[in-house]
Amino acid sequence: MKKGLTVIFIVIVIVLGYIAVHALNAPVKLSAAQLGKQLIHSNKKGIDCFACHKIGKKGGSVGPNLSKEAALKHSIKWLEVQIATPSKNFKPGSTVKIDGKSYMAIMPDHKMLSKKELFELASYLDSLK
Ligand code: HEC
Repeated sequence: MKKGLTVIFIVIVIVLGYIAVHALNAPVKLSAAQLGKQLIHSNKKGIDCFACHKIGKKGGSVGPNLSKEAALKHSIKWLEVQIATPSKNFKPGSTVKIDGKSYMAIMPDHKMLSKKELFELASYLDSLK
């Protein structure tokens, strides 16, 4: 009888150990903002943002610095539209004032990006404070 209990105990320990190891190895689910961060730093076709925008120390200054984009309090929808078709927000070729600085509105469309990618990029920008 005692031997039987020992066997059961050992089986339970093995099963719990198995579950624990698998729980630790389970893939971490990334938020939309985290996926957007991965995407914007990727070499994917159509991801050219750093050619004109700075985030942190990286990027150019043809367009506004996006390091604190969330402070401008645009909606996710507005940001998605801005990325896909900026001409809906700013008249192309006009001079626009963003966060106190003037820019020529020349941001290109990004129609090749999927809805999911636009949402991820917008969520990432909306997380930058
Ligand atoms: C060729 C340069 C260029 C590229 C490439 C570019 N942008 Fe822009 N972006 C601009 C300029 C210039 C503006 C100013 C408004 C406009 O042109 O629509 C702007 C404006 C923005 C704004 C609005 C900022 C605000 O709050 O008013 C966002 C957000 C933005 N860009 C995100 C992106 C993202 C994300 C990408 C990459 C997918 C990207 N841009 C690629 C030049 C660029």
